[in-house]
Amino acid sequence: MQKLEVFGAKKLKGQIKISGSKNASLPIIAATLLSNKKIILKELPKVRDIETMLSLLKSLGSQIKFNKDGTEIDNSKQKKKFASYNLVKTMRAGILVLGPLLAKFGSAKVSLPGGCAIGSRPIDIHLKAFSKLGVRYKIDQGYVIANAPKGLKGNKIHFSKVSVGATENLIIAATLAKGTTLLSNCAIEPEILDLVNFLKKLGCKIKWISKRTIEIIGVNKLKEISYSVMFDRIEVGTYLVAAAITQGNLMIKNVKPEIIRTEIDLLKKTGAKITTKKNEIKIIGSKKIKSMKLKTAPYPGFPTDLQAQIMVLLCKANNNSIIQENIFENRFMHVAELNRMGAKISIQGNKALITGNTNFAPAELMATDLRASVSLILAALTANGKSTINRIYHLDRGYENIEKKLKKVGAKINRIKNG
Ligand code: UD1
Repeated sequence: MQKLEVFGAKKLKGQIKISGSKNASLPIIAATLLSNKKIILKELPKVRDIETMLSLLKSLGSQIKFNKDGTEIDNSKQKKKFASYNLVKTMRAGILVLGPLLAKFGSAKVSLPGGCAIGSRPIDIHLKAFSKLGVRYKIDQGYVIANAPKGLKGNKIHFSKVSVGATENLIIAATLAKGTTLLSNCAIEPEILDLVNFLKKLGCKIKWISKRTIEIIGVNKLKEISYSVMFDRIEVGTYLVAAAITQGNLMIKNVKPEIIRTEIDLLKKTGAKITTKKNEIKIIGSKKIKSMKLKTAPYPGFPTDLQAQIMVLLCKANNNSIIQENIFENRFMHVAELNRMGAKISIQGNKALITGNTNFAPAELMATDLRASVSLILAALTANGKSTINRIYHLDRGYENIEKKLKKVGAKINRIKNG
């Protein structure tokens, strides 16, 4: 099993180019199933979750080629409607093939998803909404077996809770449904706007009616297109924290700063000096990091996917901080490992109480989920000596070339292949 060795404490300095967004790519890849025409996707990040989603499409009969223009997906011979446990178990986003398969064929059998162990992660909101489009379903031996005997029919659907995945699945499904679908209380994460942009380019009729309400008019013809996915805003946030925590000086390229205003403002409040231009962000970490209280929330709030990383920064703040996790109930698994490195964090319900002024000590560590893994790297970057991070397959699900990117800006970090 591979592991990472990190030798801290070095100031990071230089440029980092951000990759395409994993969480935008996943629903867009799933949505290609709607079409029988060739689609070229550009900027897909080279990470495990994207490989898994492409393997899932291949298992459904998609033909995929990697050429110099991007990843070409040809679904003209795609006929299978069965997404197996083996492919969906490692990645919750596998459930996103349910929407397009139902839209295209009127039936599908898809494994219940797995993914990071950060909560029970049900799909009840997806299923309830599909039933409003005329889908009948049952759960049998870990699979959702769904049928729309008369095809999907547009309807008004109000999501009981803001869910990124359910919003995506329903938007995709409704594009080919008969008539008009109105989805309200939608998630409005930038990745959803990217999915909508992709679908519009494909020929779908979609319009935002108000902040969280979207109207979709079913169509029956789609175009051959190529599309570039947006940048990974969580990767940006992670490297911003890396600079802030090491008193580094980084230029982050290939971003749209206005999309991550909340994160930038928050990091400024902790003391980091940040300036932005059209496609870049410059950050200089401060010696003195200020404590704060923060809550995770659906976009435009502070993202749960950056909670572990910001916690590492707040461990080094001049005073005590509190983070309230409002999205997932079990997303503090990094805390035990950070405490082993000398942090003093206690958990009370969905709140982490963080004692400031921590000097992280190097340690042998275990990654538990995608964002937890990267938080351990961040802590290790500040610790004087060698830290070893095991189980980095979690990390490889979502960060493209992380050790190369960090090395380029001065970190001492090595991947041990047969550890
Ligand atoms: C997506 C992101 C993930 C991010 C999360 C929240 C992808 C591939 N993943 O995950 O990185 O952390 O959004 O921003 O884009 N819920 C239900 N029933 C449902 C669906 C969700 O109770 O049917 C709950 C979840 O357990 C969770 C909350 O709603 O507590 C939000 O989940 P959701 O927004 O659906 O997250 P994902 O789409 O899985």
